[in-house]
Amino acid sequence: MKAIFISVRTSSSRLPNKALKKINGKTTIEYLIDMVKRSNYAEKIILCTTELSEDDVLCNIAQNNGIDYFRGSSPDKLLRWLKAAEKFDIDFFVNADGDDIFFDGGLADICFEQYEKTTPDFIDGQGLYNDVYAMKTSALKLVCESKMKDDTEFIKPFFEDLGDVINIEKIHPIPEKYEKKKMRLTLDYKEDFLFFKKIIEEVNELTFDNIISYIEKNPSVIEINWSREKDWKENQENRFFKESYTKYLFDLSSKTVLITGSAGLLGTQLAEAIVEHGGTVIISDVNLKLAKGLCKRLNQVHGKTVSYPEYLDVLDKKSIQIICDKYEKIDVLINNAAKDTKVENEGDLSTTGRFETMTYDYWNTDMKVGLDGCFLCSQAVANKMVKDGGGTIINIASDLSIIAPDQRLYIKEGLKDNEQSKKPATYSVSKSAIHGLTKYMATYFADKNINVNCLSPAGIYNEGLPDDFVKRLTSLIPMGRMANVDEYKGAIIFLCSDASAYMTGHNLVMDGGRTIW
Ligand SMILES: NC(=O)c1ccc[n+]([C@@H]2O[C@H](COP(=O)([O-])OP(=O)(O)OC[C@H]3O[C@@H](n4cnc5c(N)ncnc54)[C@H](O)[C@@H]3O)[C@@H](O)[C@H]2O)c1
Repeated sequence: MKAIFISVRTSSSRLPNKALKKINGKTTIEYLIDMVKRSNYAEKIILCTTELSEDDVLCNIAQNNGIDYFRGSSPDKLLRWLKAAEKFDIDFFVNADGDDIFFDGGLADICFEQYEKTTPDFIDGQGLYNDVYAMKTSALKLVCESKMKDDTEFIKPFFEDLGDVINIEKIHPIPEKYEKKKMRLTLDYKEDFLFFKKIIEEVNELTFDNIISYIEKNPSVIEINWSREKDWKENQENRFFKESYTKYLFDLSSKTVLITGSAGLLGTQLAEAIVEHGGTVIISDVNLKLAKGLCKRLNQVHGKTVSYPEYLDVLDKKSIQIICDKYEKIDVLINNAAKDTKVENEGDLSTTGRFETMTYDYWNTDMKVGLDGCFLCSQAVANKMVKDGGGTIINIASDLSIIAPDQRLYIKEGLKDNEQSKKPATYSVSKSAIHGLTKYMATYFADKNINVNCLSPAGIYNEGLPDDFVKRLTSLIPMGRMANVDEYKGAIIFLCSDASAYMTGHNLVMDGGRTIW
């Protein structure tokens, strides 16, 4: 079956809600629907939009105008089209963008005729008065299976990348009336809206021929929005460059990330950042209740399943293996779990952490969670990554992987020296060892396409911290403040993504400059 897809969504940064703006009591998208209906060969017209609730209104418009609609992925236009084509059993379709409200059904018919004659996989009609693209569903499926990113706003390069296996033809023949001339027929700016409004109000029967003939007789109308052509072109070029390159580098939409101890303070932030960049996270912790709560919140916020809760004790090989077996792939492992002694919890950071009296049991427990857990999880997941062709391991260390703790920070007035709390040696030793283990694994797995890096945060501020502690600590930090809880989000995206592909064995220290003083 042959179809025309109208691709439209309500969100637009330059001209908000442009598809719903009314001229003579009718929305701009309805004018486009009428234009497209002039096609002689389209067997179906389908309005393709997103699943976002703001686009409900577009589906109502489609229904009221007697055409079908389909709702799919918000960032991924190509996937949306594929799912629509599969649902409606479409073999070949022409796309009309929601901005191009004078898109002529006759232009789509040229594509349909070309398809009947030479059956190309993809018809490239870029550079006409409105860009037009048409494609076989089978070719679109190949593109969707091979593409490396979800942001598919600019579709042509995805087909060109498969130029060896799919047959691309330029649109032909092109009647003179469809050639690009000095006029802007795209709705992007408020001047464009005024241009369309003027023509709609002036032309009695809105056919493409009548529109062009009116413009030729009234050339001054072209000036209403022509000044915007340069801005539009620059914007398209900038967007293409920025979106297709840097977004691809930082995009995590193809990655599944396992975070250990992820229901805690930092783990929660890392998980949030990863799903914000399109990734899927396995929220694992010994505290399954907290992990479940975090997943529920993340999935609710994103309106789909972006995270899975799992019980994982980093010291229990069985619980690690269960996760490795359960998930088809783990692209990134973040070794984050630790027994992190907190200043605000009395008895946590206490005299039991003093070097002179620390029990061997205390030493073992701390070292086990902080270091052995990192080894056990890395071992199980790296074995899986080797089989799967590679991956990324990120170990969360600390500024104390580089410098010794300054015990003066923890002094409490009125206590004798042997009663003062101390930051335990286990923290320093496990964090320094993690840095060593990072370098070891980075070289060990370099030829297996696994890169291994450390992220070293410094003290993260929270309301529960005693004022005198915060004051003393900030005086040791060149930037004069502790880290905000969300300040490691950017770093984790960098480390998880392809942006850090050429980095391994590194310790990324983010400490406001504390370790350089
Ligand atoms: N918070 C900071 O100021 C700070 C500074 C530097 C480095 N770090 C490092 O960041 C990481 C996270 O710290 P945080 O502040 O979020 O700690 P946190 O105590 O808030 O969270 C740690 C999480 O690990 C879990 N956990 C403990 N034992 C476990 C085990 N055996 N198996 C699996 N999970 C276990 C806990 O249930 C908890 O949810 C730690 O490695 C810590 O050393 C934190």
